[in-house]
Amino acid sequence: TFVVTDNCILCKYTDCVAVCPVDCFYEGENMLAIHPDECIDCGACVPECPAEAIFPDIHTAIEPQWIQLNRKYSEKWPNITQRKSPMPNAVALNGVPDKLRFLNS
Ligand code: SF4
Ligand code: F3S
Repeated sequence: TFVVTDNCILCKYTDCVAVCPVDCFYEGENMLAIHPDECIDCGACVPECPAEAIFPDIHTAIEPQWIQLNRKYSEKWPNITQRKSPMPNAVALNGVPDKLRFLNS
């Protein structure tokens, strides 16, 4: 499966949603999550994300917590199937380190 990681937080560009063939993105207040049982591993979302926040779960740079958080929040947050405007400070906050502290879950 693919996972959304911390640089999505406070950016939430949602370009990923527009290309997902199985609509497996779920929307929190300031981040999205991918449902691991619904993702078909097509990889289409990866190049669409301006924040480069999506990785395969086997990527060596992925911390295990992101695999757990994608499962947890995709089961809690509502499904999102349409692209929408990014968050207001998405450009300025793209790349800020350690964004997990800002997650509104
Ligand atoms: Fe959707 Fe494909 Fe991305 Fe999985 S890899 S979340 S199926 S676009
Ligand atoms: Fe987040 Fe990137 Fe999608 S910032 S909402 S994973 S396009």
